Amino acid sequence: MIDAQPDETTGQVDTVRVTFQPAGQTFDVPIGETLFEVALAVGVEVDTVCGGNGSCGKCKVRFESGLPPAKPIDYVHLSGGEVDAGYRLSCQVEAHEDMRVHVPPAGGKMQVQILHDGVDRAVQLRPNVIKIHIPYVNPRQRDGIADWDAVKHGLPRWFQSVAIPLPWLQQLPAFIRDKAGMTITVAGREVTRIESGNTAQQHYGVAIDIGSTTVVVYLVDLNTGEEVAVTSAMNRQTAFGDDLIARLSRAQFNPDGLARLHTMLIEQLNDLFKQLADEAGITVDQINEVTVVGNMAMHHFLLKLDSTYLGLSPYAPVIRDAMSVPAHELGLMLEPHTPVYILPNIAGFVGSDTVGVMLASELHTTDGFRLAVDVGTNGEIALGAPGRLIACSSPAGPAFEGGRIKQGMRAALGAIDHVSMVGDVEYTVIGDVAPRGICGSALIDICAELLRHGLLDFTGKLLRHDELADRVPVHLRERLIEAESRRDSYFVLARAEDTGGEHDIIITQQDIREFQLAKGAIRAGEMILQQVMDLQDDDLSEVLLAGAFGNFINLENARRVNLVPQLPLDRLRSVGNAAGVGARLALVSTKERLAAEKMARRTEHIQLSGLPDFQKAFAHAMRFPKT
Ligand code: FES
Repeated sequence: MIDAQPDETTGQVDTVRVTFQPAGQTFDVPIGETLFEVALAVGVEVDTVCGGNGSCGKCKVRFESGLPPAKPIDYVHLSGGEVDAGYRLSCQVEAHEDMRVHVPPAGGKMQVQILHDGVDRAVQLRPNVIKIHIPYVNPRQRDGIADWDAVKHGLPRWFQSVAIPLPWLQQLPAFIRDKAGMTITVAGREVTRIESGNTAQQHYGVAIDIGSTTVVVYLVDLNTGEEVAVTSAMNRQTAFGDDLIARLSRAQFNPDGLARLHTMLIEQLNDLFKQLADEAGITVDQINEVTVVGNMAMHHFLLKLDSTYLGLSPYAPVIRDAMSVPAHELGLMLEPHTPVYILPNIAGFVGSDTVGVMLASELHTTDGFRLAVDVGTNGEIALGAPGRLIACSSPAGPAFEGGRIKQGMRAALGAIDHVSMVGDVEYTVIGDVAPRGICGSALIDICAELLRHGLLDFTGKLLRHDELADRVPVHLRERLIEAESRRDSYFVLARAEDTGGEHDIIITQQDIREFQLAKGAIRAGEMILQQVMDLQDDDLSEVLLAGAFGNFINLENARRVNLVPQLPLDRLRSVGNAAGVGARLALVSTKERLAAEKMARRTEHIQLSGLPDFQKAFAHAMRFPKT
């Protein structure tokens, strides 16, 4: 919460009153605190990508009173009309007088498009956790043998080496004399729980995919391997910025930064567990194991590990190995000893989510050369070949999530997600409402269509009217608005008079540059991996696009803008939430879990930063193919 310090001489705390609309919540806050930090501290959701460093332009609020003078940075991110209407960047406004501001809805408050499904595969059910019902036997018939020996008697040989922790041993005499019998839960080689009666049928596990933007949680019946329920939400940490670097900085530089990021995640997981259990009609204490995948930063935040060195070259994580931690050590509201198994990481920023993708797509048993790409603010790329696995991460930045794009937004309600220009401009909007902005999948379509129609050249330059070829249709020419400086030229996607919105939805020359930087980083990562194995595009048997972004994009357009290798469309495939599938496989099969651990150890990590070839590849990959 806001920590107001008393004045040294008067002992008084200097505060001002800040009211956030439309909720009408008022707070006394210390003078000098930025509005953005105040909102974060009191739980008012303000949109952000950069986490408050002034680079994304998403945190605008409209002043109803106490309007401060605009700063130059406001003019960088806001239109003149917005500044005149009283909008300011909340991360740049310090509270020096009472103020009332209106906060536009942030991404988390809108229905965000979250992908649950992935291309699944059948495996033999062999979970790490099993439940065994042991019927009551009259102790008089046991001939004085020890209680624990009596439990082991008659059970398979492997059970003989199972250990029983002291707290359960202390309760064993009562359980074994319970006429209802008892059910023992064993994880690996250790008893994790004893219950009265036969509860062997209530046996569930949870697989979690913690993404930077979203968290997806699957409930699986461990007796059948079937998915029983699934739920998801925006990752609450997005309040600190979509950008991982913003969150790593917060963990590093704010005294309670890491603790808050950790607590936020744990509280969110507890809420999601409850939601899942309610949906499935079970109780959370029937969850007997949890598996987790996530990128390296999420992994460190979950475990509350010092992430300082993750953000500094040479980007060393605290640990790469898989881990199993009792739920209570993390603060998860499950049975205290429920094991939480976290899949292994590879290195650098290539975390267990990539291992999940590789496991789900069987990149480790591949015949040909297969590339798996998970596009996000940090793109993770893996290449599998017979006998070899390599992987890298590439910092794409926030453009695919709408960051640094003038009217960019996440794939949420009101986002234009697909665009075509077969006739005039046509688009679809998430939720079928009036468009509010443009999300990453639409950026790909727009650039692909502008290229196809000759309004954009291969360097990414939006052409001037006098540079357009005759073939460019009139209805598209009319949408091209030239500014004195080419940087400010733009293309009108949706006119306010047609949509009923407050303003036109446009894409600017600068937006296209930002998109080129993002897609260039991903493509350069792919090119470097290909180069390491000396492969041309055509040598690749398949390119798999994982994650929500990879699922919703138009593959033909992704190829046209050079986000993926130039391959026939039947060799480009979306595999959905493959990271989540990987977590589920590790939940239902110890064999898959071991395969993941082996694969993570075998995978060579290619560090892109500092590679001279990366800069060359990046410069090349930023360009579009010549049409
Ligand atoms: S510009 Fe204010 S949060 Fe990004």
